[in-house]
Amino acid sequence: MNIMIVGGGGREAAIAKKIKESKDVDKLYVLPGNAGMASYAECVDISVMDFDSILKFGQDNSIDFAVVAPDDPLVEGLVDLLEANDIRCFGPNKKAAIIEGSKSFSKRLMIDHNIPTASFAEFTDSQKAINYIKTQTYPLVIKADGLALGKGVAIVDNFLDAKKTVISYLDDHKFNHSSDKIIIEEFLEGPEISLLTFTDGKTLIPMVSSMDHKRIGDGDVGPNTGGMGAIAPNPYYTPMVEVECIRKILYPTILAMNKEGRTFKGCLYFGLILTKQGVKVIEYNCRFGDPETQVVLPLLKTDLLEIMMATRDERLNEIEVKWESKCAANVVAASKGYPITSTKDLEIEVNDISDDAYLYTAGVKNNSAGHLVTNGGRVLSITCIADELKDAIDECYRNMSQIDFKDKVVRSDIGHRALEYYRTK
Ligand code: AMP
Ligand code: GLY
Repeated sequence: MNIMIVGGGGREAAIAKKIKESKDVDKLYVLPGNAGMASYAECVDISVMDFDSILKFGQDNSIDFAVVAPDDPLVEGLVDLLEANDIRCFGPNKKAAIIEGSKSFSKRLMIDHNIPTASFAEFTDSQKAINYIKTQTYPLVIKADGLALGKGVAIVDNFLDAKKTVISYLDDHKFNHSSDKIIIEEFLEGPEISLLTFTDGKTLIPMVSSMDHKRIGDGDVGPNTGGMGAIAPNPYYTPMVEVECIRKILYPTILAMNKEGRTFKGCLYFGLILTKQGVKVIEYNCRFGDPETQVVLPLLKTDLLEIMMATRDERLNEIEVKWESKCAANVVAASKGYPITSTKDLEIEVNDISDDAYLYTAGVKNNSAGHLVTNGGRVLSITCIADELKDAIDECYRNMSQIDFKDKVVRSDIGHRALEYYRTK
């Protein structure tokens, strides 16, 4: 089969490497991919939002199956376009992708269907929002309604910061139309759990649980990023928590989407938080997480392409999905300035990487001399697997020390909360 993956970061690198293992793959293309992926996939220089060119490429290259990985093309309906032109896809259609595309939609869905989440109010008018925040306790969470590259959430500690954020989102259009509407919600506390699931709208199969590290700095300080590292499985996702999630969150969500006439088929990502009052949903994503995918997929033993095709064909109930009972850790190297800016064109040196470490490139390209250079915020990441989480983490850092580029930014404490859990249990 000829397969195309739409996307170009570390997540797509992890999906591509896994799909490459499938016995059914003839050609594997990634649009646009990145220069570090050339040894296992053919990169095609087409942007993820250039729908006409993606469709034409699919038709000209007899693509049998497409995987649409990033949020923007999903929310804008790339799956609808490809499917309407007989290219089968893994990923939700536009109607279902709204679960990530509009926080206002997803909050209403949860409230209407009794799915536990933070209490909230929504505003389009800054004066009304300012009147509301005067009455609230802090910290408070302010979110842009639409997609904002993972940067649309502000946690504010006082009224003045809240007011500044409201004005920058609603009046100064910080995230363009994505912040025409804002959500102001209660601040929740507790360990976070990322749970990626395969679902075809009838069956839902959770993947191995994971934990992201969203803040740029050690000790979880500084601005939110797309994610600076991850571990799997997440020790806070105990069998008891799992039962609670399945009953109160996972199935209620897919049933709610069915009832709304928005059946979700693809990878539904549950961003969960374990509060003293039980598990609550922080967010839904309509896609694989980045960097969660880089710790989850290496642990998958079942053929990923087979699972994806069964998801598309609504026969996920026929598939048994198996996982390695090991631990995985992923550590990201970002370029200076991330998540606000990024530094480009810096030469990347890759020295002695273990054969069993996974190197996932993201913001990289080849310069005119053919040398791999930085080309974005999150540059690359390393995943290692071991029986014990501590060994997987140590291996990641050992391998990461073999990679060098100027002003490389790496958190030194990926997995600290999970290790703390194991130490205290
Ligand atoms: P989101 O884009 O909605 O996933 O939010 C990004 C990050 O902001 C989450 O992973 C949390 O760490 C944090 N966050 C979002 N909503 C809340 C909340 N209500 N309470 C506490 N932290 C939150
Ligand atoms: N790592 C969080 C996300 O992919 O949204």
